[in-house]
Amino acid sequence: MGPKLVLFEPAKPPFFLQTKPNSWFNMMMKSPVKVAVEIAARKKIIAANWKMNLTHREAKSYADLLWTEVGVVNEIEVVLIPPFTAIPALAEALEKSPVARLGAQNMHWEKCGPFTGEISATMLRALDVNYVVLGHSERRRLFGETDEMVNRKITAALSAGLRPIVCVGETLAERDGQRVEEVLKRQIQEGLKGVNSRQFHDLVIAYEPLWAIGTGRTATPEQAEEAHGFIRSVIASVSDHPTAAQIRIQYGGSVKPENAEELLRQQDIDGALVGGASLDARNFARIIRGAVAVSA
Ligand code: 13P
Repeated sequence: MGPKLVLFEPAKPPFFLQTKPNSWFNMMMKSPVKVAVEIAARKKIIAANWKMNLTHREAKSYADLLWTEVGVVNEIEVVLIPPFTAIPALAEALEKSPVARLGAQNMHWEKCGPFTGEISATMLRALDVNYVVLGHSERRRLFGETDEMVNRKITAALSAGLRPIVCVGETLAERDGQRVEEVLKRQIQEGLKGVNSRQFHDLVIAYEPLWAIGTGRTATPEQAEEAHGFIRSVIASVSDHPTAAQIRIQYGGSVKPENAEELLRQQDIDGALVGGASLDARNFARIIRGAVAVSA
């Protein structure tokens, strides 16, 4: 789906109005005249983050099964994010059955050198990887990744032609302490420092509240929508309004076939980053079908 021209007469104030009372957008919205605004349609992006699961052989069978279940999907974008070891096998399988694009779960910010155990953006691009997850809470929490490291990785990924899926999200203690906005704002401002407006178009943000990851406790659609709207307003403040209106924001945290559609129906939720429920190709296929139904 390409950019489309939308006649815009908002039923409720868009997120811009809440944060920038004197913006040009605000003034346009206050005008009694209907305003035609060109906004790009945000194609939903559904990604499977396998984390440290599945061998390269299992990855191949998975891709074959997913292909049988869903075939070519045009309405949305599907991304498979296996461990590094499964990337070559999956790349080969996806050449024959192009059901999804490829992503990686992490990378180092340097191009090459003495960094034992690390993988560079150049190596990922050489395997036709399109996306890379950066700043996942498991990397931040278990491996000490800071906003500054995430920022270096984002910059390196963008320069190499990889599209970062940048993860942000608060802990339960931060939510209980009314600090959600403060945390999200810091992660975005620090993580995306130096990213220019052209590069913003290659970015995807994933809102993944830590208390919802692997817990079975999903954010309610209202909680997720509120956070996504806030994230969009922060993007507008570090970039500009059209960029904020176009950037895709995924939700992640206990997404499964049973709750995916309701989440994806929210105005500011443009996709899902699925962990546990994506390990079974049939389950993931159900989530994809749900997203297609929402996008139809
Ligand atoms: P779960 O779907 O298992 O909660 O994991 C979410 C996640 O961390 C995706 O990156």
